[in-house]
Amino acid sequence: MIDLHDIPSATPCYVYDMGLLRNTIAEVKRNIEGFPYDVHYAIKANYVPIILGEIAASGLGADLVSGPELHAALEAGFKPTRLAFSGVGKTDDEIIAGIDNGIFCFNVESFPELQNISNLAVSRGLTANVAIRVNPNINAHTHKYVTTGVAENKFGINLNLLDKIVDMALELPYIHLRGLHFHIGSQIMTKRPYKLLCDKVNELQDRFNARGIEFEMINVGGGLGVDYDNPDEHAIPDFEGFFNVFKQYLNLRAGQRLHFEFGRSIVAQCGTLISRVLYIKDNGNKKFVILDAGMTDLIRPALYQSHHIIENITSASRHIESYDVVGPVCESGDVFGRDEQLPITQRGDIIAIRTAGAYGESMASCYNMRALPRHCCI
Ligand code: LLP
Repeated sequence: MIDLHDIPSATPCYVYDMGLLRNTIAEVKRNIEGFPYDVHYAIKANYVPIILGEIAASGLGADLVSGPELHAALEAGFKPTRLAFSGVGKTDDEIIAGIDNGIFCFNVESFPELQNISNLAVSRGLTANVAIRVNPNINAHTHKYVTTGVAENKFGINLNLLDKIVDMALELPYIHLRGLHFHIGSQIMTKRPYKLLCDKVNELQDRFNARGIEFEMINVGGGLGVDYDNPDEHAIPDFEGFFNVFKQYLNLRAGQRLHFEFGRSIVAQCGTLISRVLYIKDNGNKKFVILDAGMTDLIRPALYQSHHIIENITSASRHIESYDVVGPVCESGDVFGRDEQLPITQRGDIIAIRTAGAYGESMASCYNMRALPRHCCI
């Protein structure tokens, strides 16, 4: 819970709890100690420089999806040898930047992309490290926009084409194949999809090993969910339960390393979107709290029908009212919550929207020519 004296005067503003970030990272590290595991942070979740710097200094690697993310990662101090570059549409300039910086690997999503990386590596006279992103056809049972591992998604190589692309990677000059990459979705709240993923990895490794092909690394992606409904009770996600699935079910080969790519689970609970009430509008049968923050600052409710806990942190009233909490943007979808039970709320009150550290500020836009939200770290 944010202290009133930490509230910035200009809103909307993201406030990041750096102590919680440090404790979250410590919990990740506690769980991988003694195991051949490497954790990468998915920069897309939040790329505020201070946050990136903190994560880089803790020794984690990074997962990136664009040239600007590559530069932000290097700037923040992530080692190039701890960078993995994902995404279905890497441009030539982005690939060249990755090759020239000697990144750990490109996670390859298609045949033409692999050919292109090879061509560019040859032209630079440098080896490009790659992993093949596999579409394991596992349903993570999460929102349809954040499910990535079923055959109809654009991500990864379908299982029936996997042998062909692995063979191609092994034959191409200046391509070094490190292993296989998977990422089945985001905000995954049960262990079952991860158990199914372990089974699939084991099966594929057995098959490739039988053909004399061995991988130095397996990357199982990210996706661990956070508790949006109880941010204080579950400020740190259940990393122990998550890692135990892999410790129990995934058969790593001798000398092989297992990579993870966490975004949301590292930063979501650290961030709160702080906003001011502009107006209370009463249309007779409904009361609206109109905030100075809108879907341009936090798009998750509008885009994924997600719900973030909304708190009035200045009202002293003991009477509860029902409000729809909305933003100022000219879209009917600009709603943070319907029928929210809040203490009597007035113009000028401060509203905290919780669990907003991941895919909040990083997905902000300037629609309606609005300014991007500010941020501060406490
Ligand atoms: N690795 C890859 C290849 C990914 O595509 C992603 C996220 C991650 C790792 C990190 O996943 P995480 O641990 O954060 O679940 N904007 C959406 C989430 C999109 C996730 C995209 N990929 C949201 O706000 O729910």
